[in-house]
Amino acid sequence: MDHAPQIVTWTTALSVGVDHLDAHHRRLIELLNQLGGAVSLGDSRQVTGMVLGELIRYVFYHFGEEERLMEEAGYQDLDAHRQSHRIMADHVRSLEQAYDRDPSAVVAAELHAFLADWLVHHIRAEDSRYAPALCQMAQAV
Ligand SMILES: [Fe+2]
Repeated sequence: MDHAPQIVTWTTALSVGVDHLDAHHRRLIELLNQLGGAVSLGDSRQVTGMVLGELIRYVFYHFGEEERLMEEAGYQDLDAHRQSHRIMADHVRSLEQAYDRDPSAVVAAELHAFLADWLVHHIRAEDSRYAPALCQMAQAV
């Protein structure tokens, strides 16, 4: 089985129309690609674990910021979006625990593949829906 990590590229197709959150998504993708690099180069558990930890902390920080802005904008689907973040956060925590128990390249590669798929899908399918509400708020300020 090929474990070559997928490289994710941020393009304007992933823009949510809010510079602050686009910058977050770009940073998330950068960290994700760093993790992919660490996995494919067979970096040590310490290096891979550090990148993974940084990525996960940034994911949680980003969720908080997104939720704060959606709340400020009075976004109507905030509850559903928050729920989607919680499910992801729980899953990430359990994957992190699995990695702690077994920091093998296979587990790290699976974790990376899951995060890459989820992130791109989430930005396209869910984050893009809050764009109109948040853009309106940004213009009103
Ligand atoms: Fe989100």
